[in-house]
Amino acid sequence: MKVLLINGSPHEKGCTYTALSAIAGELNTAGVETEIFWLGAKPLGGCVACYACRKTGGCVFDEVVNQAIEKAKTADGFVFGSPVHYAGASGNMTGFMDRLCIAGGQHLYYKPAAICCSARRGGTTATLDQLVKYPQYFQMPLISGNYWAMVHGSNPAEVLRDEEGMEVMRQIGRNMAWVLQCIELGKANGIDHPNNPPKPVTNFIR
Ligand SMILES: Cc1cc2nc3c(=O)[nH]c(=O)nc-3n(C[C@H](O)[C@H](O)[C@H](O)COP(=O)(O)O)c2cc1C
Repeated sequence: MKVLLINGSPHEKGCTYTALSAIAGELNTAGVETEIFWLGAKPLGGCVACYACRKTGGCVFDEVVNQAIEKAKTADGFVFGSPVHYAGASGNMTGFMDRLCIAGGQHLYYKPAAICCSARRGGTTATLDQLVKYPQYFQMPLISGNYWAMVHGSNPAEVLRDEEGMEVMRQIGRNMAWVLQCIELGKANGIDHPNNPPKPVTNFIR
């Protein structure tokens, strides 16, 4: 079993990474493989709605999204982490998530997901409200801890001093491992996710 953790920060080993590492540590302790995938420090654009991905299964732009799609194919679970930038997810994370989901969303369906964010002080719940929309769309069981998944700090040392936030991250790791193990045992005993029929798409005008 493998969990792909997305670091949407321009800092490879910053605050978001510190939170993701705590989740990954607990997953590893439970025997679950992990990979923290960093989006990099170069600006990533958003989706331009060209819909080329519907034909190719990939994004026409940079490698970052396509690399993540390849990894998503074999991942059993996901954690989407972002720093808070002006009370929302980072621009890179927003552009990445939009493009990952439209080009590679078929590899997300029914796989457990968690979200988390890192902030100096504010805008955390708005960021989580934004990030949670992606797993909700793909029918991904949401993994939580005993508080909203945020850590506070301007650097990793400060984040490590956020004892409650860090413990919530560890809870998320343990809870994710538990759900993954339950899903695996279920599959071994003939219980898989439901085969939901396609939904009607109505656009409210037809
Ligand atoms: C462009 C920008 C906007 C930011 N906006 C906020 C904000 O709205 N609220 C906040 O608490 N911190 C804000 N911060 C601070 C970061 O969210 C915070 O330091 C975070 O923990 C950094 O995580 P990272 O090291 O993973 O990048 C902002 C930082 C940047 C660069």
